[in-house]
Amino acid sequence: MAAQILITMDDLETAVRINAALEASGFSTAMFSSLDDARGSVRRESPELVILTGTVHDPHALTLAALARDHEISTLALLEPTDSERADRVGRLGVTETMMKPVAPDDVVQTARRLIERRHLQERTGIIGQSAAIQEVLVKIEQMAPVSSTVLIQGDSGTGKELVAKAIHDLSPRRGRPFIAVNCSALPETLLESELFGHEKGAFTGAAERRLGRFELADTGTIFLDEIGEIPHTTQVKLLRVLESRAFFRVGGIQPIKVDVRVIAATNRALRDAVALGEFRDDLYYRLNVLNIYLSPLRERREDIPLLVRRFIRELAREHDRHFRGITPEAMQRLVSAPWPGNVRQLRNLIESMVVLAPGAEIRASDIPADIFDGPGTLLPMRLQPAGRELAGQELEFILRSLVELKLQVEELRRRLDDHPQRVQVIELSDHTSVADVLPAGGGDGDQTVIYRPGMTMAEVEKAAIEAALREHQGNRRRAAEVLGIGERTLYRKIKSYHLE
Ligand SMILES: Nc1ncnc2c1ncn2[C@@H]1O[C@H](COP(=O)(O)OP(=O)(O)OP(=O)(O)O)[C@@H](O)[C@H]1O
Ligand SMILES: [Mg+2]
Repeated sequence: MAAQILITMDDLETAVRINAALEASGFSTAMFSSLDDARGSVRRESPELVILTGTVHDPHALTLAALARDHEISTLALLEPTDSERADRVGRLGVTETMMKPVAPDDVVQTARRLIERRHLQERTGIIGQSAAIQEVLVKIEQMAPVSSTVLIQGDSGTGKELVAKAIHDLSPRRGRPFIAVNCSALPETLLESELFGHEKGAFTGAAERRLGRFELADTGTIFLDEIGEIPHTTQVKLLRVLESRAFFRVGGIQPIKVDVRVIAATNRALRDAVALGEFRDDLYYRLNVLNIYLSPLRERREDIPLLVRRFIRELAREHDRHFRGITPEAMQRLVSAPWPGNVRQLRNLIESMVVLAPGAEIRASDIPADIFDGPGTLLPMRLQPAGRELAGQELEFILRSLVELKLQVEELRRRLDDHPQRVQVIELSDHTSVADVLPAGGGDGDQTVIYRPGMTMAEVEKAAIEAALREHQGNRRRAAEVLGIGERTLYRKIKSYHLE
């Protein structure tokens, strides 16, 4: 059997002592005197933990740590007290945990066990992150999974609330039973009630048949009430009754229906504030808030960003069938320092766009749209929301995605135009200049020029670029498509949609 734990032998005495203790506790281990051999083993055998016993400042040790990190293998570095000022640096290089020497072998065994169990848990749940905040969430998930108490998950949009709800269900004795999600903000009041509790035939106009509600469908399993902060008052009262008695009536029904359902609710509103404002019933709040998980925004746990980025690149490259090496350190640094108002969802969407659109086999700093740094002003969901109503997850996702895509389209177009400077030229026209002012003397290459006027939409710019390319090649579509760097079929489609025929 391949070893679960690799131990480097730079500090031979410590290595031997902890190796003995780990073996005595039932772990399979392997010791390496050469870091090269250790690297080979990480590549081939995917251990679950690498323990570095010395010389963390040695470049070889750091490459080993980096390799382990790339393979999502945890690392435990045993540091000399004199290394303490380096602990920060080591942390930044992605070592999962550090301990100061001298170490008690039993403490190392305990830490190793915890790190390995945590890794299994992260594999099972798909929840990535090494920050203290995420580790705490994982501990809570483990504690909350076995029981049936109601859980309230709070956190900004895109922080992983649904992922956590699913993880609790999947680790609970109810796994294999239904997990039913209801978006409480997506439906008007009457429909929401019939969605949750079902209705009897003829209960209202259009109720041609009896319909089972989500609570009944979730019987013996879990119901996930998403955007719970949005439910109207009358539904709040009914929900409170269900939580108190585990029984309810279908709309138009007279028989109480009993169900065995675990309730997990989520919201990106500060529910306590909604209670203070009288918008959310306090008795319902307390009923929901038996167990509580808070997901912090991504900007408050930046150490998770590299892990998320690497995982998303791998997953999305596979999904889109693209060979992708990864990301340059400079690009990673930019992503780590961005504000991320849309949290993990925004990060994932951006990686997806870049995996699809980046011209090379790796993400470079120049592939990252500059506006991710424009700060909360541009992408903050709050700015986009109509008064009095929060954006639902899907809507927000759509908006963020559209913004990212629009930006990428502009960059892509700019890049294509840059590639052919001698053929198509974009000239920006301000309010005070005219076409004649900006074109070279004698009219010059008017054919090959796209005039950009402030206020033009992306579609208008694109249309102008297509017109210019067609003009330049006397209507030859194959040549025009080549110049524009798009497929001929795409060009045909665009010519049609812009009515350029
Ligand atoms: N810690 C994490 N590890 C891996 N993926 C994550 C993590 N957190 C979030 N994600 C991913 O980010 C996306 C958004 O997560 P999710 O839908 O759970 O967020 P949410 O909090 O429910 O957002 P909203 O309030 O907008 O509905 C999903 O693709 C999810 O898989
Ligand atoms: Mg959600």
